[in-house]
Amino acid sequence: MAPCSGRFASWILVLCTSAIAISPPHFTMSKTTKAESATEKENLSQFEQHYFNSYDHYGIHEEMLQDTVRTLSYRNAIVQNKDLFKDKIVLDVGCGTGILSMFAAKNGAKHVIGVDMSSIIEMARKIVDINGFSDKITLLRGKLEDVELPFPKVDIIVSEWMGYFLLYESMLDTVLYARDHYLAPGGLIFPDKCSIHIAGLEDSEYKHQKLDYWQDVYGFDYTPFIPVVMEEPIVDTVDSNLINTTRTKIVEFDLNTVTLADLEFKVPFKITAKRQDTINGLVTWFDNVFPAPEGKKPVEFSTGPYAAYTHWKQTVFYLTDDLECEKGDVLEGTLTCGPNTRNNRDLDVNIKYDFKASGVDGEQRSVKGENKYLMH
Ligand SMILES: C[S@@+](CC[C@H](N)C(=O)[O-])C[C@H]1O[C@@H](n2cnc3c(N)ncnc32)[C@H](O)[C@@H]1O
Repeated sequence: MAPCSGRFASWILVLCTSAIAISPPHFTMSKTTKAESATEKENLSQFEQHYFNSYDHYGIHEEMLQDTVRTLSYRNAIVQNKDLFKDKIVLDVGCGTGILSMFAAKNGAKHVIGVDMSSIIEMARKIVDINGFSDKITLLRGKLEDVELPFPKVDIIVSEWMGYFLLYESMLDTVLYARDHYLAPGGLIFPDKCSIHIAGLEDSEYKHQKLDYWQDVYGFDYTPFIPVVMEEPIVDTVDSNLINTTRTKIVEFDLNTVTLADLEFKVPFKITAKRQDTINGLVTWFDNVFPAPEGKKPVEFSTGPYAAYTHWKQTVFYLTDDLECEKGDVLEGTLTCGPNTRNNRDLDVNIKYDFKASGVDGEQRSVKGENKYLMH
């Protein structure tokens, strides 16, 4: 398992189905030209610069593009909803290499605006051009919050904003900004429903290898490192066989209505041991659902241990205690999550747990605890 590290987008004709008609890209009202960015990178905080720099390199985009569960889910959601995209104005928030913009343009969108702060957008321009979409896709460099769009309103927002544990990177904030400033009434967001799930796992060997190392480093006691190591959630793939409790959904966001304040939350959870085992920590993942017309099955995908691999893997929070469980024992608690005050792209997570074991030795095995984590 690997610790979390950053993955690091004049003439207006109102139609009845499409909010806004296009004006050709070369007549756009945007202040942003090909040569400039609407946002001066130097004016951004070090954290923000670091964040956007991480998307400058092709490698991170290669990883995302090669994540077929991710990329094909977006393509399927657009292809299966061609009718929804037909003649629509689409905003691609954080367009990266332009893949989602091209999916939308190829599947009927009247015009697509792709916005990205990272220099990768210069590559997107070349790609959009050689693939023949220059007249259908306008690419603007800068923070979405700073660019001036060539259309006052858009019909559809597409964005791949999800980070580890869903909310790491805080890019959802930008999608909500786009929704509140640019989405026409009745407009759609792809995807528009996301949920976070939790379960218990047995991972004694790796956990203890990772923590016990600090007991004796070349004969010295390095144990002050142990709480520091414990504070870092681990991003890695979890074999579903390691899951030894029931799973539960802890939070669900509807992107059509969720507010920034909702992204800071405290939620209860309750899971039940499925076998005699040890619960060393909690594994979390998220699921996503795209809009679909009434009666049509929506495209959805999961980043969970029971689903196919995605580059988001899963996020594991080790607990201080190793919980010796018998089938039916209950682990309940609360999970608190919010942006870190120093760097709002990091996440502060707090897990309070109350393990209620039953049986003759239930009292000895029952334990309460609390762990604080920082995803950075
Ligand atoms: C996860 S990548 C997705 C890239 C592309 N849409 C794809 O699916 O391959 C997110 C992109 O959003 C950009 N981004 C994040 N926040 C942004 C903001 N506030 N304004 C503009 N671009 C942003 C990043 O630079 C990055 O290229």
